[in-house]
Amino acid sequence: MRKALSVIAFFAMALAALIGGCKDKGGDNNSAAEAGEIKIGVFLSLSGKNADFGKTTKNGIMLAVDEINAAGGIGGKKLVIVDKDTRSQPDQAQTVAKALATSDKVAVAIGSVESGQSIKAAPVFQEAGIPMVSPSSTNPDVTKQGDRIFRVCYLDDFQGQACATFAYKDLGLKKAAIIFAQDDDYSKGLADFFRASFKALGGTIVEDVAFQGEVSEFKDQVSKIAAANPEVIFAPVYYGSIGLIARDFRKQGVKAPLLGGDGWESPQLIQLAGETLEGCYFGYHYDPEDKDEKVQSYLKNYKAKFNTEPNSLSALGYDAVYTVKAAIELGGGASPDQITQGLRKVKDFHGVTGTYSIDENRNAKKPITMLKIGGTSLSKVKVIQPGDLK
Ligand code: PHE
Repeated sequence: MRKALSVIAFFAMALAALIGGCKDKGGDNNSAAEAGEIKIGVFLSLSGKNADFGKTTKNGIMLAVDEINAAGGIGGKKLVIVDKDTRSQPDQAQTVAKALATSDKVAVAIGSVESGQSIKAAPVFQEAGIPMVSPSSTNPDVTKQGDRIFRVCYLDDFQGQACATFAYKDLGLKKAAIIFAQDDDYSKGLADFFRASFKALGGTIVEDVAFQGEVSEFKDQVSKIAAANPEVIFAPVYYGSIGLIARDFRKQGVKAPLLGGDGWESPQLIQLAGETLEGCYFGYHYDPEDKDEKVQSYLKNYKAKFNTEPNSLSALGYDAVYTVKAAIELGGGASPDQITQGLRKVKDFHGVTGTYSIDENRNAKKPITMLKIGGTSLSKVKVIQPGDLK
């Protein structure tokens, strides 16, 4: 029975490919479109050290896709997700991007979270003529990879300046140390922006320490920083490292608060860091306390579907899908070219993570929400708007 079905399916697919192929040499995305589907490639860290990034983002993507399909799709066409695991590695992101572009022939790609991965994958999609939308890669270089590369989150020049201003002005801390991963685009970039902004405000960087590769012991870096006696420590790293870094600071008796960017985010943050991050701060992509109806219905529907709390990564994944939907509508169709044209026209899009427009550099301008870690919970301290900073 199963065999018979798959034989029929095979012929149906061959026929669809033939019809699609006759009309247009564009490949599978056209035949998929004619079959009433829009293929969206998704590439994320679904395993490896940053697996939380991929899993929570994918939940947000699936929530949006299921909602759209339940409402009849886009212009009658259903969205189909083809997802690939980058295993938390930039090189693997490039490998799976090639598969999505050449074998799966997706109409549009959504990914990745980590800037290092997005920077490696972007040229592949650009070359293939397929638009790519990163939900959450903040390094400025991501969208510089080509005119088909977009994002729906804020950028690290803004994030670095926001963190520096928050430390210097809101917390009143004038002596900062920095610890960052030299070989990671996100970490290095955000450290650079923070350093420049903090100094421009009048602050002093009392110690600046880089590490490389997989590090599980930060004893030496921490003693260097401890000796400089900072009032705040900026640590633009991902959630897997921050717990270890915080532990080593507390072990050496350093009590200064740690401050991070969006990369700390993970449902496991508190478990990984224990009490060592008590009183520390980091940046977030949306404000879950926002009374906006979109935000509140998102929170409710997410909890109902996944039985866990959503986070800002899932909200960005959700918004990325709806931004693509808006682009298909604005571009007049779901071919890679039409979606690219449509993405350039997205203005005043009202999402869960704010209202944003795609600017001429294919970026979005959005506020950053600073959160404070206390006990087992996170609380909002301040929302910084792009216009608040000079
Ligand atoms: N902004 C990070 C990067 O560019 C990714 C990230 C976004 C991580 C949001 C956590 C939350 O690499």
